[in-house]
Amino acid sequence: MKFLYSCVLLLAVFAASQAYSSSWGKRNSTDILLSRQTEVRAPLKNSYWNINIDYPRPGTNSVYTITLVNVIDNFRNSSGATPSLWSGGPGYRYAQINLRSQVSRGLNSTIEIWGKY
Ligand SMILES: *[C@@H]1O[C@H](CO)[C@@H](O)[C@H](O)[C@H]1NC(C)=O
Ligand SMILES: *[C@@H]1O[C@H](CO)[C@@H](O)[C@H](O)[C@H]1NC(C)=O
Ligand SMILES: *[C@@H]1O[C@H](CO)[C@@H](O)[C@H](O)[C@H]1NC(C)=O
Repeated sequence: MKFLYSCVLLLAVFAASQAYSSSWGKRNSTDILLSRQTEVRAPLKNSYWNINIDYPRPGTNSVYTITLVNVIDNFRNSSGATPSLWSGGPGYRYAQINLRSQVSRGLNSTIEIWGKY
């Protein structure tokens, strides 16, 4: 029984690692949603998308401190893009997130930025 439980747990961990959703930081219940955007790209034959998402929008400033960066892969079938936090993020007032899709596959990812004043 215990062994079976361990197997299920391992499988769950494996399944989670197969989903291309990531988050950095931790959200407090009082934090506010600073930005939510969904990036959708059609597949490129034999190539991939490599895009950067900036918060706040280039040329603007944010007075909020980021607490959580949450990237949700809307494909949910392990063919989505891999997100990386390239700069900023939790503790900073800016963040740059990179999305890299798989070859010949598009992407549909939602980027949420949470923060506090
Ligand atoms: C969450 O926010 C409340 C109210 O601002 C604050 O008292 C608390 O310390 C915060 N918790 C964390 C983990 O930052
Ligand atoms: C992207 O994912 C969202 C959330 O699942 C969905 O509502 C939307 O239709 C998708 N967009 C495309 C172009 O597939
Ligand atoms: C994953 O889901 C997306 C959107 O539903 C679809 O376009 C894509 O073909 C799927 N990929 C695989 C490998 O099933």
